[in-house]
Amino acid sequence: VTKTVGIIGGTGPEGKGLAARFARAGLDVFIGSRSAEKGEEAAAACAELSGGKVSGGTNAGAANAGETVIVTLPYEGLAETLKPLAPAIGAKIVVSTVAPLRFGGGWVDMLPTERGSAAEDIQLLLPDARVVAAFQNLAARKLANLSHALEGDVIVCSDHAEALQEVIALAEAIGTRGVNAGALANSRYVEGITALLVSVNRNYKQETAVRVVGI
Ligand SMILES: NC(=O)c1ccc[n+]([C@@H]2O[C@H](COP(=O)([O-])OP(=O)(O)OC[C@H]3O[C@@H](n4cnc5c(N)ncnc54)[C@H](OP(=O)(O)O)[C@@H]3O)[C@@H](O)[C@H]2O)c1
Repeated sequence: VTKTVGIIGGTGPEGKGLAARFARAGLDVFIGSRSAEKGEEAAAACAELSGGKVSGGTNAGAANAGETVIVTLPYEGLAETLKPLAPAIGAKIVVSTVAPLRFGGGWVDMLPTERGSAAEDIQLLLPDARVVAAFQNLAARKLANLSHALEGDVIVCSDHAEALQEVIALAEAIGTRGVNAGALANSRYVEGITALLVSVNRNYKQETAVRVVGI
C-alpha cells in the first residue's frame, strides 16, 4: 500500500483537506503548487492541523515525491499543469478528484470534457499513468474538520485493477468505504454526482455525501 502521496494543486481546500486526512492516517504527504513558497505554507498548516508528516513545494516536487499522485486541480488547469509532468509521473497511480463543474448565478452544471470525464482527460494527458477516479464526492470542509469522522462512500473507477484496489485502501485509510465502480469511463457519473450534491447542499445548507446501499 502507498506510503507517500504527492498532491498536485494541493494548496486549495480539497487538496489541503485530503492532505490533512492522509497525514493523520500516517502517510507522508507532499503538497504541490505553482509556487514553491505557497506549497510550503500549505504544508506547514496541514502538518500543524494533522500532527503528521507534510512537506510542500512545486507541483513537479509532488509528482516526484508521491508513490501515488493525487490531482486536486480545477479542470481548467489540467492540461497546462500535467503535460510537462508526464515524464516524472510515468506509470504511477494518479488519482483524479476533479469534478468539472461550472457555477452560474444560483446554478451549477458540468463543463464539457474531451473524453467524457475529467478523469479520462487526465488519462489522455498522462497515457502511461494508471489513472483512478476517486474522492470527487467528499466536501473539502468535511475533510478539514479532523474532529469529525467522514461520512459517505468513495466511489472508485479505473481501468487498472491493482491501482483501483490501492485507492480503495487509501479511501479506507481515511475512514471511508471505497466502492469498486469499474471502468474509468464510469467516472463521468461520479463527477456528475458532485454537481447534484452542490445543489442539495444549497437547499439544506449542509455539506452532503453519498452512500451506496445493498453491498
Ligand atoms: N472544494 C471541494 O469541496 C471539492 C469537493 C470535491 C471535489 N473537488 C474537486 O477538487 C479539485 C480542487 O478543488 P478546490 O476547491 O481545492 O480547487 P481550487 O482551490 O480552485 O484549486 C486548487 C489549486 O489548484 C491550483 N490552480 C488553480 N487554478 C489553476 C490553473 N489554472 N492552473 C494550475 N493550477 C491551478 C491552485 O494552486 P496554486 O495557486 O498553489 O498553484 C489552487 O490552490 C477540483 O477539481 C474540484 O472539482 C472539490
